Parts: sequence; C-alpha cells; structure tokens
Amino acid sequence: MVLTIILIRVHNGGMIICVCKAVSDRHIRSAVKGGATSLRDLTRELGVGTCCGKCLPEAKATLSATLDSRSESTVLAAAHAYFPRTGTEFAG
Ligand code: FES
Repeated sequence: MVLTIILIRVHNGGMIICVCKAVSDRHIRSAVKGGATSLRDLTRELGVGTCCGKCLPEAKATLSATLDSRSESTVLAAAHAYFPRTGTEFAG
C-alpha cells in the first residue's frame, strides 16, 4: 500500500476555503478589503467555485462575515469620529 501525503502550503497561513484554487479565508478578506462585495466578485478575482463548486457555501459565509465585520468597523469608526471622547475623562 502506498501512502500519499499531500501538503497544501498557504503563504499567509489562513484556513483553506477553496481546495481547488487554494484560496484561504485571508484571501477572501483581502478581496473584500479590495472592494469585493459578492460571490461573483470572489469568483472573478480568486477563482472560488470555478472547479467543483463545493466551496461556495463556505465562501459565501466567509464573505458575509467579512462584510458584516467591515460595516460594524465602519460604524464604530464613524461613532468615534463623531464622539471623540473615550469616557475616561469623566472618571473619578
Ligand atoms: S473547492 Fe472550490 S471549486 Fe472546488
């Protein structure tokens, strides 16, 4: 019996989302930072889902989570810009 070990090396160390195209969650987050907002954008930019398609649900979940966290960060940044005080100046 022959044992074959396949190593998938990802330069940035993220979790692999698309095995066929070696796309990690970090690649997806980076694409979102670069302006990707849809699964179609990820497919076009990274090739996600263009072979077997089994990665599409996880790619969509990662995209949604990244977009949600990005919009949350945007709201927090806007709130901090509008209300620059941290609240510590009111402490004792
Ligand atoms: S795992 Fe993504 S296309 Fe096959």
